[in-house]
Amino acid sequence: SHNITVLGLESSCDDTAAAVVRRKDGDSNGGEVLSSIVWGQEGLHAAFGGVVPEIAARAHAERLDLCVEQALEQAGLALAEVDAIAVTAGPGLIGGVISGVMCAKGLSIGSGKPLVGVNHLAGHALTPRMTDGVEYPYLMLLVSGGHCQFLGVLGPDQFTRMGGTIDDAPGEAFDKTAKLLGLGYPGGPLIEEEAKNGDPKRFRFPRPLLDRPDLDMSFSGLKTALRRARDTLVAEKGGLTVQDRADLCASFQQAVADTLAEKTRRACIAFGKPLETPVLAVAGGVAANSLIRAALQDVAAKEGFQFLAPPLKYCTDNGAMIAWAGLERFAGGEFDDLTLSARPRWPL
Ligand code: KG4
Ligand code: ZN
Repeated sequence: SHNITVLGLESSCDDTAAAVVRRKDGDSNGGEVLSSIVWGQEGLHAAFGGVVPEIAARAHAERLDLCVEQALEQAGLALAEVDAIAVTAGPGLIGGVISGVMCAKGLSIGSGKPLVGVNHLAGHALTPRMTDGVEYPYLMLLVSGGHCQFLGVLGPDQFTRMGGTIDDAPGEAFDKTAKLLGLGYPGGPLIEEEAKNGDPKRFRFPRPLLDRPDLDMSFSGLKTALRRARDTLVAEKGGLTVQDRADLCASFQQAVADTLAEKTRRACIAFGKPLETPVLAVAGGVAANSLIRAALQDVAAKEGFQFLAPPLKYCTDNGAMIAWAGLERFAGGEFDDLTLSARPRWPL
């Protein structure tokens, strides 16, 4: 039987990535990642405390060709040997998305291989199918620097958005909080490290929107509360001690974890049990946080859900998830032509 092999390109935020993924025809056990190259741009943006779109777009344009070349080389394949070229066509920082789509179009023209536009969020949402062969339907919590939503994943092109943040994404809150505390970028891992020595109960930060029954969340108020706490400490004693900083981080992290856990509990109930053992899957960089991960795992166990967190390298932005989502579309007979355009906004 025929194997489907897809090259995937990702450049919608601050990672330039390319990967080759293969699925055996009729195989429901997921995909084999033949190669996955990710060139992070953290170093380019660190001094600014966040991603600078113009710098990101330029770096993607400069690196995509080589990234693709390395992905093919590592997979031991020529471009002529892949079945399709998948690319993130949105949502994301438009300069980077355009770089990726242009690159993919060039490859498609040069090789005659079909072009498959992929929604970046679908890439994240379908990752558990690639890594673990999870069956439809399943519940997904996507928590990253740019996104925070509960999705019912019903098919490769079928998602129900059950709720999400009404302002900042948790990763964004981690990043802004880290900047506020002078910790650096990206903030998530730095705050997690600081929090290890901190008291999560010292500051009572808000758990926003828990009074509302829906699955919407809000994280911008949390950031403001933290700033106020910091300013009060600075006004009182002229600066932050090492312990103050650790306590602020621990209390902040606990508030995010509590909020996500409670909304996830409600999402499990709202999703119901369409299968005997329903699956709660997570994706996005914030799922790397061990406190948050443990909290979600605990909720899943209590609600009778199987908890699934793909390996971290496939939870954060990567080319393999785009190749896989493209593969699922392509296997279903869908692809695009050269009119494919880059979309800054593209809800699922
Ligand atoms: O999924 P991702 O790589 O990129 C997108 O936003 O699409 O997620 C990056 C985000 C950043 O905001 C980063 O601070 C956050 O994930 N992050 C974390 C941790 N590691 C990364 N947040 C909390 N704890 C972590 N350990
Ligand atoms: Zn992402």
